[in-house]
Amino acid sequence: MITSLGAPGTRLNVQPGEAPATAPDGLLVDSYGRRHRDLRISLTDKCNLRCTYCMPEEGMEWLARSQQLTVDELVRIAAVAVDHGVTEIRLTGGEPLLHRDVVEITSRLASLPGAPEISMTTNGLRLNALAQPLRDAGLTRLNVSLDTLVPERYKELTRRDRFDAVLAGFDAADGAGFTGTKINTVLMRSINDDEAASLLRFALDRGYEQRFIEQMPLDAGHTWTRENMITADEIYAHLAGEFDLAPVPARGAAPAERWYVNGTEQTVGIIASVTRPFCGACDRIRLTSDGQLRNCLFARTESDVRALIRGGGSDADIAHALGVSIAAKLPGHGINDPGFIQPERGMSAIGG
Ligand SMILES: C[S@@+](CC[C@H](N)C(=O)[O-])C[C@H]1O[C@@H](n2cnc3c(N)ncnc32)[C@H](O)[C@@H]1O
Repeated sequence: MITSLGAPGTRLNVQPGEAPATAPDGLLVDSYGRRHRDLRISLTDKCNLRCTYCMPEEGMEWLARSQQLTVDELVRIAAVAVDHGVTEIRLTGGEPLLHRDVVEITSRLASLPGAPEISMTTNGLRLNALAQPLRDAGLTRLNVSLDTLVPERYKELTRRDRFDAVLAGFDAADGAGFTGTKINTVLMRSINDDEAASLLRFALDRGYEQRFIEQMPLDAGHTWTRENMITADEIYAHLAGEFDLAPVPARGAAPAERWYVNGTEQTVGIIASVTRPFCGACDRIRLTSDGQLRNCLFARTESDVRALIRGGGSDADIAHALGVSIAAKLPGHGINDPGFIQPERGMSAIGG
């Protein structure tokens, strides 16, 4: 059930049967007391952009259809997770809107007993067609990724000339009644680090929350360098030079540190995954489109729930797999440890 993808010496230290599957009350609590409420499901490893920091231009090997979870399998795993205390499911990818059954999946997940909140991280390109059906299906919130407001730069960064499609996607999302939309941006040195203020202004104008995310060592090409990463402190300094920022208290398990902007209720967030890790409050577990459970973006091990299900495993077995995966979760992602090794899968294959 557990597959080690790690380098020698990084074997999971918890094996099936060695640990209780879940806490006595059935909740997914790890050995550091972190309760898991947030399930991130990658619907596909495919994407209709090729962002330079995420995917190579060519040469990605896609999962075969038979390797990917069916809709029934995916909903079944999610149902077990919800039954054990998961309250929010985030659909991601790859690009989740490329999954042909994304509306059905959303509807079935939103209808699960326990009514989990269903949100999505997307590049927005297909929202023009899908925002309304997804809203009707029960999707509650959108995080749209956008790294630049300069069309030419968008084309260079994403290797696709689709900037207008994102703008149309924002309009469609607003028209469908989505509120609380967030924009996710990765700032990169000498590439788009001059756009923090303009992106925030754009988000404020549209009533969205702008979020800046430190670039993490998760690119398929393994080209990340600490020097080129724009740090949370740099982003804050840049924004504080142009806006009045007042801290929002009560962060909880949320990855973003947030500030009210210019004395309004509107907020901006910075996710300092590398320089100020928030692993101590992490409540996330991930399911890849090929049915592998990951207890961390940076995990070097995965648990094969697809094999478990296809081998006739029961819901109790799925719960056990969830519990074992969470029991093996390390206290932190380890990016800043001297021996850090980047996981084999990149962000697009894990699900960001
Ligand atoms: C991998 S994408 C998948 C979902 C969808 N295709 C999208 O564009 O939002 C999710 C998010 O991960 C971010 N991302 C990709 N690689 C990253 C990295 N190395 N560090 C930080 N964020 C990254 C992207 O900018 C995007 O906001």
